[in-house]
Amino acid sequence: MAFLDSIRSFFVPAAEFGVERAVVSAPPMAYAIKPLTERDSKDVLRLNLRCFKNGENYTRYTFAYLFNEPRSLSYKVVTDKGEMAAFAFALISTDGTAHLTTIGVAPEHRRRGLANMLLRHLEDVLRIKGISTIVLELRVSNFAAKTLYTEAG
Ligand SMILES: CC(C)(COP(=O)(O)OP(=O)(O)OC[C@H]1O[C@@H](n2cnc3c(N)ncnc32)[C@H](O)[C@@H]1OP(=O)(O)O)[C@@H](O)C(=O)NCCC(=O)NCCS
Repeated sequence: MAFLDSIRSFFVPAAEFGVERAVVSAPPMAYAIKPLTERDSKDVLRLNLRCFKNGENYTRYTFAYLFNEPRSLSYKVVTDKGEMAAFAFALISTDGTAHLTTIGVAPEHRRRGLANMLLRHLEDVLRIKGISTIVLELRVSNFAAKTLYTEAG
């Protein structure tokens, strides 16, 4: 995959998307949900590269589209040091449903309820907008995501 890596390095420094050999859990800390805006483009691009491997990650063009699409909602979870630990995007469809576009949590912050927090927050915002159905897709082999969505109802 050296070829893919060299293409990605045009956009993100190599060290940012290098294979993570070991994940060391972050120490316990407080988290907060904040709006995710175009100013976070670089951070969300980097985090999505860490979360989605094998070409399943979004490109900066996709994020640019989502940030400029009025029907798009985007939130991040930040640590007490202001670093992005998780992100989620949803797109409101013309049929009155919403599509969970992407969601990712940094490996060192997983299993702390951050994805659940983001899902609940999106649900609350969408409910206020009168939307009660969220559509999503996932690989059947993505056990973590399947369990997350099943548990979230
Ligand atoms: C899937 C993902 C978003 C989950 O994020 P997370 O913050 O770790 O999830 P949460 O801590 O909120 O987990 C909530 C529940 O989901 C389930 N779950 C989450 N990760 C799981 C895993 N690896 N194995 C089994 N169940 C899991 C559990 O029921 C968990 O509750 P519990 O910890 O009390 O048992 C994260 O693993 C990730 O970013 N994966 C890579 C990107 C991805 O696949 N995104 C989804 C694309 S469809």
